[in-house]
Amino acid sequence: MIEVTNLTRRFGQTIAVDGLSFKVQPGEVLGFLGPNGAGKSTTMKMLTGYLRPSSGSARVYGYDIQNQPLEVQRSLGYLPEGAPLYVDMTVAEFLAFTSAVRGYKGGESLKRIKTVVDLVHLGPVLNKTIETLSKGFKRRVGLAQAILHDPKVLILDEPTDGLDPNQKYEVRQLISSMARDKVIILSTHILEEVDAVCTRAIVISNGRLLADETPQSLLARSKTYGAIVLELDDKEIDVKVLNGISGIAKLEVLATTSGQSFRIYPNKGQNVLLDINKSICHNNWKLRSLTVERGYLDEVFRTLTTRTAA
Ligand SMILES: Nc1ncnc2c1ncn2[C@@H]1O[C@H](COP(=O)(O)OP(=O)(O)OP(=O)(O)O)[C@@H](O)[C@H]1O
Ligand SMILES: [Mg+2]
Repeated sequence: MIEVTNLTRRFGQTIAVDGLSFKVQPGEVLGFLGPNGAGKSTTMKMLTGYLRPSSGSARVYGYDIQNQPLEVQRSLGYLPEGAPLYVDMTVAEFLAFTSAVRGYKGGESLKRIKTVVDLVHLGPVLNKTIETLSKGFKRRVGLAQAILHDPKVLILDEPTDGLDPNQKYEVRQLISSMARDKVIILSTHILEEVDAVCTRAIVISNGRLLADETPQSLLARSKTYGAIVLELDDKEIDVKVLNGISGIAKLEVLATTSGQSFRIYPNKGQNVLLDINKSICHNNWKLRSLTVERGYLDEVFRTLTTRTAA
């Protein structure tokens, strides 16, 4: 597992990472969220031995990132931000090089390269030089080199940045399928990705940890989480009926071009759906839709990160 303790990195006056502590266990997919400049990439660079911490420490499967960097690097795969690659090599040459650096030879090397080429669909571009590839294909080459040795730990800095929707979907599937026995840390600005692939999310701003919880509990911080949106075809209903339902904390009238719409906030832990349903039936309201809101990660993200900025 990974254990990070008070990890700190300064660049002159800037404190890029400020006393971060967290743990990640195998089977977890941890998402790093945070505004531009929050310190996500700097944290990842320290975990991979690319940058030295100013203070604090981190252990990867018991190996210290500063004192045993080679042991750490053997056990991890890293997709850096922007995927810097040897751009004058062809994809095939680059993967052969990566495989040789990882110590593979002959048939084993060919097998590993074939596996990753198939996994991230690089077949059609194998003989193209990397500099001539589109952004998404460069990203895929970066991902291929990160997973070639089937590492126990994967650190992926914005793995789906620049990919088309089909590839985004495939890379997320790939991450989920690899997750069972690995520790995976990824950063992203796509909040739906956190919900889709991460088992846990860490929100960082100005290098500090603001939240460390499941995506579901982050969603539950949303102002509208659990609220019921009711859309009726009726032009005028007696709002007093809705307001009279016990367990309702607030009723919001929503703007609509036809009929009437409401957002109903229940008191915490109260299930008012049954009573709302009864009112609809009892009053013969013409129900268009009834939805329970799941919350919005972008709203939670904004609330968390702008409050600290202020
Ligand atoms: N080599 C460096 N020299 C000086 N300052 C740096 C260096 N690398 C990062 N920083 C600063 O550290 C802070 C954190 O940067 P970092 O790249 O870790 O942010 P990030 O969360 O990855 O942002 P983004 O979402 O834009 O990728 C920023 O203020 C950045 O300008
Ligand atoms: Mg970054």
